[in-house]
Amino acid sequence: MKAAILKNLHEPLVIEDVAKPSPGPGEVVVRITAASLNHRDVWIQKGLYPKITTPIIPGSDGAGTVAEIGDGVDESWLGKEVIINPSQNWGDDPNFYGDDHKILGLPDNGTFAEFVKTEAKYLVEKPKYLSFEQAACLPLGALTAWRSLMTRCRLTAGDRVLVTGAGGGVALFAVQIAIAAGAEVWVTSGSDQKIQKAIEMGAKGGINYKIPTWYRDLLVKARGKKTGYFNVIIDSAGGSGFARLIDIAAPGARICFYGGGTGNITDIVPAKVFFKQLNIYGSTMGTEDEFRDMVSFVEQKEILPVIDKVFALENAEDALRYMDSGQQFGKIVLAI
Ligand SMILES: NC(=O)c1ccc[n+]([C@@H]2O[C@H](COP(=O)([O-])OP(=O)(O)OC[C@H]3O[C@@H](n4cnc5c(N)ncnc54)[C@H](OP(=O)(O)O)[C@@H]3O)[C@@H](O)[C@H]2O)c1
Repeated sequence: MKAAILKNLHEPLVIEDVAKPSPGPGEVVVRITAASLNHRDVWIQKGLYPKITTPIIPGSDGAGTVAEIGDGVDESWLGKEVIINPSQNWGDDPNFYGDDHKILGLPDNGTFAEFVKTEAKYLVEKPKYLSFEQAACLPLGALTAWRSLMTRCRLTAGDRVLVTGAGGGVALFAVQIAIAAGAEVWVTSGSDQKIQKAIEMGAKGGINYKIPTWYRDLLVKARGKKTGYFNVIIDSAGGSGFARLIDIAAPGARICFYGGGTGNITDIVPAKVFFKQLNIYGSTMGTEDEFRDMVSFVEQKEILPVIDKVFALENAEDALRYMDSGQQFGKIVLAI
């Protein structure tokens, strides 16, 4: 089968013919029709991810058709159109994953290939209203957004939500899910055009985080009090900007971050956190139940994943470089 392979760190992906996987007991092989990128794939290539082993076929997100099943797998899966839950071996405690947790696409070969092997228990039927390309956008990003919003921040309709960096794959799912749940959603982005697109999708407003006074200006726009406005904040940037999130969080707010794209969090004033009784959470991926809940919510609300650009598998390296450039609004897809 054809696959995009990372042979060594810091090298471009190469396209090669490799042996097709075959399913063991409890496993299936899915013929991938579309895969999508996550920033994780870029971090892995750059060596900025724990426990990297090469060579590896990256890719955590995929949609396709079950081509083969192993012993013990229900035959009704054969030929079904599916997406794959990439958050595997979560363990027994829904609050935290266990030592064996792994994400599809490292250490196991992932979805940037014509076929991928996975355990049957990680299959979920593809929502019928979604194309393969749209469905391939969902797994990692929408799961991360779902757990951050719903489990960690206990989102309710009427919450005033701020999603930072709205152009990102996870962030845009957070915007869409929060809007669909009835929340008032505001965004930041490094691009005015991306803010405009988020507003067209139902966000109430936004501000460019490159403006030095963005946090004060955003409070003015949202007619918030000096003590803050947003009672749920979802962030993947971290860095020095995180302290500003503390400033604009409403008293009692829930703040969740799932990434640290701009580096370590600095300059948080403890008194601001405890006087405002803020709740700060970290979140990663999600459980099998959360994955199923996310897919059924997306289906029920008919959320359409936003695809920025589709690349052919042969151009997987170009797709990674495009993600690294940060131009995208939403997901980058590989047509396989
Ligand atoms: N913990 C987990 O389970 C988990 C899961 C998924 C992702 N992540 C992490 O979350 C991050 C985003 O992942 P992704 O796949 O969504 O990547 P992506 O599509 O490449 O998005 C990158 C994001 O960074 C934002 N950004 C860049 N500079 C920023 C700044 N100064 N302030 C605020 N936002 C800024 C971009 O916003 P604009 O384009 O709007 O400027 C965009 O949202 C990555 O660090 C990734 O490793 C973690």
